[in-house]
Amino acid sequence: MTKRSLRALTMGALLALAFGAAAQNTVKVGVIAEFSGPFAAYGQQIEAGMKAYMKQHGDTVAGKKIELITRDPGGKAPDVAKRFAQELITRDKVQFLAGFGLTPNAMAVAPVVTEAKVPMIVSNAATSAITTRSPYITRVSMTIPQVSAPMAEWALKNGVKQVYTVVADYGPGIDAETQFTKTFKAGGGEVVGTLRTPLQNPDFSAAIQRVKDAKPQAVFVFLPAGEQGIAFVKGFNERGLAKEGIKLIATGDITDDHVLDAMGDPTLGLITAFHYSAAHDSPENAAFLKNYAAANDAKVGRPNFMAAAGYDTMAAIYEAVRKGGDVDADKAMAALKGYKWVSPRGPVMIDADTRDIVQTVYIRKVEKKDGKLANVEFDKVENVKDPGKDAAK
Ligand code: PHB
Repeated sequence: MTKRSLRALTMGALLALAFGAAAQNTVKVGVIAEFSGPFAAYGQQIEAGMKAYMKQHGDTVAGKKIELITRDPGGKAPDVAKRFAQELITRDKVQFLAGFGLTPNAMAVAPVVTEAKVPMIVSNAATSAITTRSPYITRVSMTIPQVSAPMAEWALKNGVKQVYTVVADYGPGIDAETQFTKTFKAGGGEVVGTLRTPLQNPDFSAAIQRVKDAKPQAVFVFLPAGEQGIAFVKGFNERGLAKEGIKLIATGDITDDHVLDAMGDPTLGLITAFHYSAAHDSPENAAFLKNYAAANDAKVGRPNFMAAAGYDTMAAIYEAVRKGGDVDADKAMAALKGYKWVSPRGPVMIDADTRDIVQTVYIRKVEKKDGKLANVEFDKVENVKDPGKDAAK
């Protein structure tokens, strides 16, 4: 071997070593979330929350640099989400998958992570059953039954005995209808009618008229956060249901902090049950809001529960990496089971049996705070586990 080829070989070996070391010192997180289409705010909010966490805590944990690789299924597109998951795992070699605004996209990826043994942190999708689909799934957002049961309890305590339910016709909507009805009936309430509206391009006018004609004491609503809530509240007001004495109660998706300004004053007084409000008064939330503003373009808009869950997604991933779970999926899952931390929303824990989040659910009312519409928390139920897994049995 000539001196020259020996030198080339040594250089090559050194480069390979350096490259390998760099790869080992990087933890790749594949973020599959909706960044375009009617649910574009979901991906934008989740990613903005992730960036807020990384701004506050640095992009390195336990000597490893955290790298986010985003993919956009463009809306409800389970097949596309599944293909992205496969590519991120086999080609990009991600150690974690995260994101997932919509239930159908999360559900489609479950078999992929089971097969590949890659931990998947759900940052929003809230149908109860998602975490049962793979031992490698954990969830840091919420489940819809978890926020629907406290709404039913609050309604009963406040003299509401007859309710009409209106929900989006897919996983989380059916969970909302099922859990609300179960808790409400168990407490002596009566559900006088139920309606399901399509997930894509719904028109609420017929549903709102049906509710008005039925004259219930209240209508309980679950709609996926964003434009749908704006349209529903608008129709509710235009058709004069409040004037007829019909109350509107809902999961907090409808008064999502991100769309409150667009909803305007007609939303004042609306009561919802939810796990996060940007108006939550705590040092952890103040730090989140500050870093959210510092890490993101103002165009992303006011942070909502998906941004807070994006932030908590990174809290979970940093914990797994600290415990060595960046190279071993089982270690990562073990680190997350029972993990407790203080989120911007309050104290939270990952239930070791279900891998789902346990948290405080707040009852809130839309009010003006410092001249801006806000979901102001006035009551709470602590340590709420997902009741939906029992309901589904
Ligand atoms: C879901 O698809 O699981 C979902 C979407 C939006 C929400 C809540 C749940 O606001």
